[in-house]
Amino acid sequence: MTETILKLRQIGELVLRQPARPLSLDEIQSPETQRLIAAMRDTLRDAPGVGLAAPQVGYGIQLAIIEDRAEYQQAIPPEQLAERGRQPLPFQVIINPKLNIIDPAQNLFFEGCLSVAGFTALVPRAARVRVEGLDENGEPLTIEAEDWHARILQHEIDHLHGRLYLDSMLPRSFMTSANHARFWKDVPVCEVCSAFQISYT
Ligand code: CO
Repeated sequence: MTETILKLRQIGELVLRQPARPLSLDEIQSPETQRLIAAMRDTLRDAPGVGLAAPQVGYGIQLAIIEDRAEYQQAIPPEQLAERGRQPLPFQVIINPKLNIIDPAQNLFFEGCLSVAGFTALVPRAARVRVEGLDENGEPLTIEAEDWHARILQHEIDHLHGRLYLDSMLPRSFMTSANHARFWKDVPVCEVCSAFQISYT
């Protein structure tokens, strides 16, 4: 099958700031939506990234995909993966999701977005969530997730409401991905906060 790489919309495009509309069962099962899902998967793997929402490729519909492949984690020290609760996640399609916060305790880590290319910031996220929605066949779907998985779900579902991580980040931690890699990627989050005079409790 041919790969389809879609254009990733960047901040400043209105579609990223508009609430997306839910899909009907007929729409979900249509060849158009199935083709879009396949193209979004190709686009996410090409980027590469761990999550992609339809507005990021120009569609104002409540559809997102997530996937965190083992190969993406190979270069990351095991203690960093453990600290984030990051484990490989299989490819998953989430349609018309409702997010419930199960544990409001917040985790704080750097986060990026394919629509805010080249930047990263510290973003607090709820530690544990439940997501209810539909899968790619229109079947009911319930996901209980914690830590990194919960973070990705919150980030992608935010996209479906016109929200970006910029709206919830700690602004003083906003930096280029290059500077993050150069100076901060191996520094504990609490030390980053103190270095940048970020008060966060
Ligand atoms: Co994003």
